[in-house]
Amino acid sequence: MTDTSTSLGVRRATPSDAQPLVSVLAEAFFVGPVADWLIPDHRDRRLAYHRYFELVLDHGLAHGHVDTYADLSAVAIWYPRLTPPEPGSAEHQEALERATGAYAPKFALLEAMFEAYHPHDAHHYLAYVAVDPKQQRRGLGTRLLSGYHQQLDALGMPAYLEATNNRNRRLYQRLGYLPGPSMHLPTAGPEIWRMWRAPRGATVPDAFFAPPLPPRQSQ
Ligand SMILES: CC(C)(COP(=O)(O)OP(=O)(O)OC[C@H]1O[C@@H](n2cnc3c(N)ncnc32)[C@H](O)[C@@H]1OP(=O)(O)O)[C@@H](O)C(=O)NCCC(=O)NCCS
Repeated sequence: MTDTSTSLGVRRATPSDAQPLVSVLAEAFFVGPVADWLIPDHRDRRLAYHRYFELVLDHGLAHGHVDTYADLSAVAIWYPRLTPPEPGSAEHQEALERATGAYAPKFALLEAMFEAYHPHDAHHYLAYVAVDPKQQRRGLGTRLLSGYHQQLDALGMPAYLEATNNRNRRLYQRLGYLPGPSMHLPTAGPEIWRMWRAPRGATVPDAFFAPPLPPRQSQ
């Protein structure tokens, strides 16, 4: 998709927006059960999160669709997943290690779990959505996603995401997503809800509700 609903004040992000959008991502995701699980130490977390979200945003700008507002107060990173993605590259693993150091195995495990539980039907994947913490709960997140959903509905295309806490889950349910079987991050990590949004008039594929298999162990 090349166009976003400018009537909602949303525009496509460019590489020159990167620095402020990395800050929005790193600050918005700084608190929460997944952050506590990934990097318990707050000082380490701040450093690693900024580096990690640089990687995330660069990848989104190069391979996905990144939406924002003129004032860069929010960001959503989408990937069309019409066919299964290429397996993670050695370069990505090295970049992850440079960005997150000793925490790289946790990040790699999180990414591997998300991939292992990912549905196979064609869809657009909402990998990240974040609103500047000073501007949350004013409808910015809802508006940012609604424009994209309108375009998906016009294409008859479903959407998928992972919700990382109950409040997010409620937001996504209001936007038309249904929760499927959840996953738990090891060991005693938080619960993550897999959520699917069928385009208007369509049903959710049965396979989405089948209990997901545990991640495949590498040999
Ligand atoms: C989730 C998020 C993108 C929503 O954007 P927003 O502009 O704050 O949301 P809106 O004002 O459109 O809608 C409000 C709803 O969003 C959710 N929400 C708002 N702030 C939230 C926060 N800090 N954490 C989790 N959910 C939040 C709630 O469901 C809220 O409804 P409620 O007030 O009835 O609980 C934004 O709060 C955020 O960046 N949170 C931290 C990062 C994150 O969790 N991203 C999603 C990962 S799955």
